[in-house]
Amino acid sequence: MALNAVPEVVTTERRHSVLLVSIDNPPVNALSVDVRRGLVAAIDAAEADGAVAAVLIVGAGRNFIAGADIREFGKPPQSPSLPEVCHRIEACSKPVVAAIQGAALGGGLEIALSAHYRLAVTSARLGLPEVQLGLIPGSGGTQRAPRLIGAKAALDLILSGRHVAPKEALTLGLIDRLGEGTDAMAEGLNYAQELVAARAPVRRTRDANALTDQETQRAAIEAARADTARKSRSLFSPMKIIEAVEAALTLPFDEGLALERKLFLQCIDSPQRAGLIHAFFAEREVLNAPETKAAKPRPVNSCGIIGGGTMGAGIAVAMLDAGLPVTMIERDEPSLARGRAHVEKVYDGLVKKGRLTPGAKAAVMARFTGSTSYDALAQTDLVVEAVFEDMAVKKAVFAELGRVCKMGAVLATNTSYLDIDEIAASTSRPGDVLGLHFFSPANIMKLLEIVVPAKVNADVVATGFELAKKLKKTPVRAGVCDGFIGNRILAVYRQAADHMMEDGASPYQIDQAVRDFGYPMGPFEVSDLAGGDIGWATRKRKAATRDPKARYVQIADRICERGWFGQKTGRGYYLYVEGARTGTPDPEVTAIIDAERQRAGITPRPFSDEEIMRRYMAAMVNEGANVVHQRIALRPLDVDVTFLYGYGFPRHRGGPMHYADTVGLSQVLADIREFAREDSLFWQPSPLLVELVERGANFASLNQSE
Ligand code: NAI
Repeated sequence: MALNAVPEVVTTERRHSVLLVSIDNPPVNALSVDVRRGLVAAIDAAEADGAVAAVLIVGAGRNFIAGADIREFGKPPQSPSLPEVCHRIEACSKPVVAAIQGAALGGGLEIALSAHYRLAVTSARLGLPEVQLGLIPGSGGTQRAPRLIGAKAALDLILSGRHVAPKEALTLGLIDRLGEGTDAMAEGLNYAQELVAARAPVRRTRDANALTDQETQRAAIEAARADTARKSRSLFSPMKIIEAVEAALTLPFDEGLALERKLFLQCIDSPQRAGLIHAFFAEREVLNAPETKAAKPRPVNSCGIIGGGTMGAGIAVAMLDAGLPVTMIERDEPSLARGRAHVEKVYDGLVKKGRLTPGAKAAVMARFTGSTSYDALAQTDLVVEAVFEDMAVKKAVFAELGRVCKMGAVLATNTSYLDIDEIAASTSRPGDVLGLHFFSPANIMKLLEIVVPAKVNADVVATGFELAKKLKKTPVRAGVCDGFIGNRILAVYRQAADHMMEDGASPYQIDQAVRDFGYPMGPFEVSDLAGGDIGWATRKRKAATRDPKARYVQIADRICERGWFGQKTGRGYYLYVEGARTGTPDPEVTAIIDAERQRAGITPRPFSDEEIMRRYMAAMVNEGANVVHQRIALRPLDVDVTFLYGYGFPRHRGGPMHYADTVGLSQVLADIREFAREDSLFWQPSPLLVELVERGANFASLNQSE
């Protein structure tokens, strides 16, 4: 029976005495207003039809329901709301069954929790990931889940946002039955008919009683509160989640729902929600580059890596993890043995932790071969060069690659700063040369800058994006310049930090202010972790081309001259007691800083943490604007994603450009103009920033125009 009144995203059909309600709203069956209306109409129809004894809700396609329609956030609400839909389902006088395949996430799981019986097949993934968007489940999830599975399990689910597989969901009590096959609709129909035959009652989750043992439940709430205070101090929604789940213990169901709604709306209004949702959309939008629209990627079924050092080994692991066979090329046998050992060490670590069996490790390593001859790359689809950061060495490598690689092979460089147009010119086939800039450790860090030289073919760029997908990395398209998007901007705000250090802020205060902003580490801790020698070598290389009028702080050089390169040498900006990963402030470093201030004739002045962040962010945003203005980044959101995935920028702030919008661009520009009174060479307002302020526009407007 098709019901005309029901919009076609929700269809109903009677199968014997079961009303089959199917949600068909591609791509993921999000709960748009039409779906919500359709669900309510379907339940009404079931109530009205005497021949219907039970209702079965299923998702068409691969998913049950992936969640709320995020694009509706911030728009005027449209009736019925999701809590109303959940209420209508739960209140139904006939048993309602949810049969789950694929995603039942967020509002999708809340719908399932409002049904009276739940079945899932093996493809199902259940979760309440709202916390990742700065929210709490707002349609009864915080009240129904604890009543069904207890406060501890519910808090774990809602605070982590993790996805649960059906087996675990059954153990937790989140579902009633594990379907044996893969077809949720067929399994669900059998289940519903069984329930009808057994005259199973309507069983509402609001009346479930997993919360009877008050003492255990309270202990779970307190433990979660202490843990969240420690781990997610700067986040808004986790404490609201705990408050809501606590209400499931202390308040009647309807009052708990009312509190949940109030807390949900507070989260909707929080800037963190805006930042996290910006991040969510931005990381999807970066995939839209001109080349990914225009060209099809070349097939990549094998990979070569030149250089088995820090980066080469990490990239090899990333490729092996993605299932590709890898051939590593090194200068000589001892270097090759070292490169292989670097790769093997990663897998040995996993075996030690019990995350990989020795057999599985052997199977992975069987895909790894090494050679000292480039001829081993003759049949390889894609090669990544990760040799020393030296133009002459890289040119020699690319000349070799041009000689040995098959036609159509993609030739990539992992250079951090060098001119890829020049590298490309050293081969016979510049159209095949691309930048693939990984971040250290390359098998872990999610960012991959896809650097696009002038002569590269579009399908080679598209191949880079496709490879990122295979490696489960987040690609960002970047143009060729010194440092591309990330390192170019980093160089500028690092200088701003150095200026503040010389003017009176200690590196320890700066690191603390940056951590308080939400970063996991401050810039001087990062330098100690990466190794001060890397930056030192870059500074020496660039010394000849540095503007003699530009301010140059020598403190880092004084520290490096002593051989203090950070953690690996036991001291850098901080002192590291043998093997320690966190350092303590070093009085000798403070003395070096004092001496340098004197030498430069600077009387130190105090800095507030607020001023430190204002200068740090102004420098970052201004250079971010330059990078967009010069089309090195396609849009401001590409800068945001680069910093979220490669530089530890706090996700709840959405990225530097989104953050600047929240501060207000005219404020950022006013800051820059104020700072320019001391140093007009360093603080030159970006033309794009000036233009946007004149037009009264923001960075977000440029994201939309693409
Ligand atoms: P590394 O010094 O650890 O390793 C370089 C390796 O290349 C050495 O094992 C060396 O034996 C090998 N090699 C040198 N010339 C060779 C040749 N002609 N043929 C074959 N192998 C050769 O250096 P690292 O840190 O791995 O850096 C490699 C590249 O990656 C550089 O371009 C660097 O700028 C870039 N990069 C480095 C990052 C980092 O955090 N270390 C991050 C992103 C990029």
